[in-house]
Amino acid sequence: MSKVRFALVGAGRAGMVHARNLTGYIPEAELCAIVDVNGEQAKKSADEVGVATYSTSLDEMLSTEKIDAVCIASLTFTHREIVEKAVAAGKHIFSEKPMAQTVLEARRIKDLVEKAGVKYQVGFMRRYDPAIRKAWEMVHEGTIGDLVVIKSTGRGPGLPPSWIWDRTKSGGMLAEVSAHDIDTVLWFAGKKPERIYMEADDFKAPEARQKFPDFYDHYVVTIVFEKGPLSIIDGGCPVGYAYDARMEILGTRGMIRVGETEGHGPVLMTLEKKAVRDNHDAWRNRFREGYLEEMKAFIRCIVKDEKPFPSALDGYHAVEIVEHAHQALDQKKPVLFHGEW
Ligand SMILES: NC(=O)c1ccc[n+]([C@@H]2O[C@H](COP(=O)([O-])OP(=O)(O)OC[C@H]3O[C@@H](n4cnc5c(N)ncnc54)[C@H](O)[C@@H]3O)[C@@H](O)[C@H]2O)c1
Repeated sequence: MSKVRFALVGAGRAGMVHARNLTGYIPEAELCAIVDVNGEQAKKSADEVGVATYSTSLDEMLSTEKIDAVCIASLTFTHREIVEKAVAAGKHIFSEKPMAQTVLEARRIKDLVEKAGVKYQVGFMRRYDPAIRKAWEMVHEGTIGDLVVIKSTGRGPGLPPSWIWDRTKSGGMLAEVSAHDIDTVLWFAGKKPERIYMEADDFKAPEARQKFPDFYDHYVVTIVFEKGPLSIIDGGCPVGYAYDARMEILGTRGMIRVGETEGHGPVLMTLEKKAVRDNHDAWRNRFREGYLEEMKAFIRCIVKDEKPFPSALDGYHAVEIVEHAHQALDQKKPVLFHGEW
């Protein structure tokens, strides 16, 4: 295989991050076609990245284009149907997170791709962020001893679009905003969770709560693992001040901090003796390397016939945690993990 040939399905915010990487920064890839149910969006996106073929129909694209892999970046509740079509056509799949909006849908996806034997990688790009990866290696080399507490903060500046307010479509704000934090915590802990709890409330988006009574915009989730570590995820949107993704990992012999709110831009020193630097404005900039490296890894796993990382099982576990957390939120008490592992 000289180049891995891709079709992108869903050419919005996340889709265009992948489209730009596939066309501009990964010589081993060719983006052959763009599919988006919004025809104008399909054309505009294809024009931007210089892709000649675009369509509103995935069926047409799968039957006419010679492609090896599908990159799914459509809305979460559409992922399963697209996976079904891609699997039926024998294509490998890179899918944006969260894998699906419910455990049931996620299980169907996992079973489908495992049975078909196609490569399926889920878009948890934080596993390819250089600092987070290095921290994981340090933890697993024993640098800070045994894990005690993992903290992961994930906050976004703006209120996400309204389809995300609807838990039945997005899996809820926890799935949309903090699937990455959940996956990172599970990856660092490397074991089955024991107990999950969630508190949440709506502080900034009464319009969303009015439409969806179970909507929340800020939350705290705890995940406890048998014999440790303890973990805590706090997240929310819209916080306004930045895209803020940070971790702190406490061990018995030290602590590791990852990430900062301040961006990489210049620092302005003013005559008022202040130092001014911009904060990270968006996820696509904060995790630029992660998005590029995750796609390169997916291509390598196709070319070299390696196991995708993170896998369908990893995607599934994150959705399981979201559902457990929502159960705990609804019941106002911690829930024992009763999912598959
Ligand atoms: N990895 C990350 O950090 C990250 C960041 C943002 C979004 N996401 C995920 O990416 C997915 C898309 O989110 P977004 O913010 O880019 O949304 P978006 O609204 O910006 O873009 C989605 C695009 O998909 C199209 N679409 C919808 N249904 C479709 C279908 N059935 N077939 C083809 N196209 C379809 C829409 O017309 C739209 O252009 C979501 O699952 C979201 O959770 C991941």
